[in-house]
Amino acid sequence: ATTSQLEGRRVVISAGGTREPIDPVRFLGNRSSGKQGYALAVVAARRGATVTLVAANPSLPTPSGVTVVPVSTALELQSAVERAAKDADVVVMAAAVADFRPAQYADAKIKKTHDPDQPDAAPTIQLVRNPDILAGLVEARGEEASPVIVGFAAETGDDRGGVLEHARDKLARKGCDLLVVNEVGLDKTFGQDENTVHILRLGSSHVTEAGPASKELVAAAVWDAVQEIL
Ligand code: C5P
Repeated sequence: ATTSQLEGRRVVISAGGTREPIDPVRFLGNRSSGKQGYALAVVAARRGATVTLVAANPSLPTPSGVTVVPVSTALELQSAVERAAKDADVVVMAAAVADFRPAQYADAKIKKTHDPDQPDAAPTIQLVRNPDILAGLVEARGEEASPVIVGFAAETGDDRGGVLEHARDKLARKGCDLLVVNEVGLDKTFGQDENTVHILRLGSSHVTEAGPASKELVAAAVWDAVQEIL
C-alpha cells in the first residue's frame, strides 16, 4: 500500500549543507552530511517516484535512478529548487541552508597583517541574510494544494516538550504541510547513520515519532506522512 501514491510522482529533495564563500579558499559551512536527504531520495525512487535531488556540496555517491543537481551556495540551491519545483508534486527541503552569507566576496585570499604594531589585527566579516527558500516555496504555491511542501528543523534540544513547542511555532510560521524535527548536537544526527525525528503536520496536533532508526527507515516514515496528504 505504501508504494502506490508515490508511483509516477515528481519529487524534489534538497540535501546537504550550503557553503557561502568568503574568499577563494574559505567558506562558511555547516555540519550537514546530506545522508538524510539522500535516504529520502533512495526511498522515493524505490517507491516509483521521479526524483530530482538538489545536492549542496555532495560527497555521497549518486543513488541509482535519481537525478542529482549539484549546487554549492544558498542562492544556487534556491534557483535549482525553484526551477525543479515548477512541475513537482512534492518538495522536501532537507538541506541545511545558511541563513547568512558574507556581504562581500574577496577575490584574493584574505591575508594576515605582519604589522608589528598590530599583531592581533583581524578582519571583520560582515554577513547578510539569505532568502528563506522554504518560505518562498510556500508563498509561490499560494492557494494551490500542490506541491506538498516538507520542511526540516534541526533543534538543539532542551527537553522534548520544549523542542516540540518550538517546532509547532516554526511549522505555523513557515506554512509548509509537514515539518520533520530532529534534535541535533555535535554527537547527534549530523554525519550519523541513525536519526530520531518527530513529524508534525500543519493543522493537526498528532506527532509521528520515527527512530532511533536508520536514515532510510526515517525517510520511509516521512514518505508515509507525505502519502497521507497526496
Ligand atoms: O528556520 P530554519 O532554518 O530552522 O528552517 C529549516 C528549514 O528551512 C529547512 O527545511 C531548511 O531547508 C529551510 N531553509 C530554507 N532557507 C533558508 C534556511 C532554511 O529553505 N535560508
